[in-house]
Amino acid sequence: MANTTAPSRDLRALPAAPGPLGLLDSTIGQKIVMATTGAILVGFVLFHFIGNALIFAGPEAINDYSHLLHHSHGLIWVARAVLLLAVVLHIATALRLTAKNASARPQPYKVKRDIATNYAARTMVWSGPILLGFLLYHLAHLTFGVTPGPYQHSPEDVYSNLVNGFSIPWVSGLYIVSMLSLGYHLFHGVWSMFQSLGINHSAYNPRIKHAAIGLALFITLGNISIPLSVLLGLVH
Ligand code: HEM
Repeated sequence: MANTTAPSRDLRALPAAPGPLGLLDSTIGQKIVMATTGAILVGFVLFHFIGNALIFAGPEAINDYSHLLHHSHGLIWVARAVLLLAVVLHIATALRLTAKNASARPQPYKVKRDIATNYAARTMVWSGPILLGFLLYHLAHLTFGVTPGPYQHSPEDVYSNLVNGFSIPWVSGLYIVSMLSLGYHLFHGVWSMFQSLGINHSAYNPRIKHAAIGLALFITLGNISIPLSVLLGLVH
């Protein structure tokens, strides 16, 4: 009589399912981490832009908003902790995926095909580090107020900090160039986020691509409008 309790030969031949840590070592697990942390960061830059756009409503509006955030009874610290974790995981996972890709293809392609995805993917390699450099400068500039400049930084007066900061052309230029790389990064990031999450169908892909372009343009042009308006004297 056959032994019905013994596992079948085929089942025993299957590899053990990876645990949560094993999943983080797999390419698909790492892409999910990139997509999730990317979504958190996109949410932040969108929210951050909407808050900063209050500069167009005058000093009181943006200063009150900043005051509200800073007196949110610990909520700001929870948001900061989530953001920091998202940034660290996003960068660490990007480095692991890049190293994995490089070791899987030790010989560079002889002919570099400039198809759209290739181009956007390559921009991630330079737009990512530019954004990290920008973020460090930006925190020193507008959060800690420790960058050199002919003005006093006041934590209570975000409006004046922005107007005084962006009145210096090279500071505005630096922000504008950084926002252009943010645009590239956002477009490719949002597009690949959908691919990584398996939301990928020829019927929806053109719409997803247009949404990624629209979101990237909205945040990029919106952010650029702030230093540009100060430079042009529209906000003073
Ligand atoms: C032209 C574009 C931008 C402007 C005008 C701007 C403006 C500001 C201002 C005024 C603050 C200080 C807020 C306060 O103390 O109440 C701030 C903080 C910050 N910004 Fe931006 N920002 C811009 C783009 C960005 C981008 C693209 C990122 C992310 C990549 C970013 C990340 C941050 C972070 C993490 C903080 C610190 C928030 C905190 O206090 O925890 N900013 N920004």
